[in-house]
Amino acid sequence: MSSVVTEGGYRHANGPKGPFPPEPARRSGLPPLTAFAPPGVRPRYVRVEAPCSIANVGPGFDHLAVALASPVDTLELRYASRWGFEVVGDSDLPASWEENAAGVAARSLFQRFGPPGVLRARLVKGFRGSSGIGSSGASAAAGAFAAAALLGLDPEDPGVVGAVVEAALAGEEAASGARHLDNVAASLFGGLTFSEAEDPPRVHSVWPGAPATWVIAVPDLRLSTRESRGVLPAQVPFGDAVINVARASGLLLGWVQGDLALVGRNFGDRLAEPYRAPLVPGFEVARRRALAAGSYGVMLSGSGPALAALVPPTRVGAVGKAFREAFHSVGRAVDVLTSGVGAGARLTGWS
Ligand code: HSE
Repeated sequence: MSSVVTEGGYRHANGPKGPFPPEPARRSGLPPLTAFAPPGVRPRYVRVEAPCSIANVGPGFDHLAVALASPVDTLELRYASRWGFEVVGDSDLPASWEENAAGVAARSLFQRFGPPGVLRARLVKGFRGSSGIGSSGASAAAGAFAAAALLGLDPEDPGVVGAVVEAALAGEEAASGARHLDNVAASLFGGLTFSEAEDPPRVHSVWPGAPATWVIAVPDLRLSTRESRGVLPAQVPFGDAVINVARASGLLLGWVQGDLALVGRNFGDRLAEPYRAPLVPGFEVARRRALAAGSYGVMLSGSGPALAALVPPTRVGAVGKAFREAFHSVGRAVDVLTSGVGAGARLTGWS
């Protein structure tokens, strides 16, 4: 299994095909963004997709996140005669440039590089918010990426990549109250992202050494990141911290080597999950049943209420069934999703 290590990230045989990360992007300490419109073209319209993600992968609280192949948010930006912002697919989200994560992120980038003129935005949500699969991070990434593409900026310029990350962080902060980089990094760059530093942002994107399949259970319950951060302790026992360090090492080793059983064995987080699990009725029974159904590992996804199971492809159906039965046994409806690891934000249309 061959992988290529770069300063900003790994390119792996299982990752998306494409050019080797350009030198300037690597120097920025950030992985490259995918291409905008051809150089020199200033589009009048762009359509962008950015994936949802699983944050806090195993013991990687606030630092490790995985981009999903689906669901994705789709954002269209176009020049118009009047300002407008429309949200499709989640009526609970604010539909405004000032409050929506995508709107705030896009505006933040325009403030830095000059306002482009009057715009209309249409955001189609891939999944409802406050579910634990990085819905606000996907919107924030889409907003920042779309604004940069509309402005005709150079995605290989390290300053542009850094500004896109900063703008996406502003969007995430507006939605969740915190500037945590994990979901945003995964939604922008794809793969498993390790957010090494936030100021200035430094991110590594690592593709798994073998295709990784996730089964995700999203119970019918909204849990905001704000609320979920509120139950975290100020201090943790020394022994718990030691175990988390060991598990993070095992998880990353397994990921790079494509040993997914090693990855799953090292999921057990001791810093956040034990304090947050009580917020999700059915968490323990769902975790137990999904493990018994053959998952490599099961964990809270992001700040919950979703649970994510890393599974062998042959166990997808059994784990999905286990999740459904577990949540039904505690009287909760649940959506079950299946996804591989996804690429980051990308331009899917422009004119
Ligand atoms: N790392 C963040 C948290 C992610 O757990 O609060 C939120 O999805």
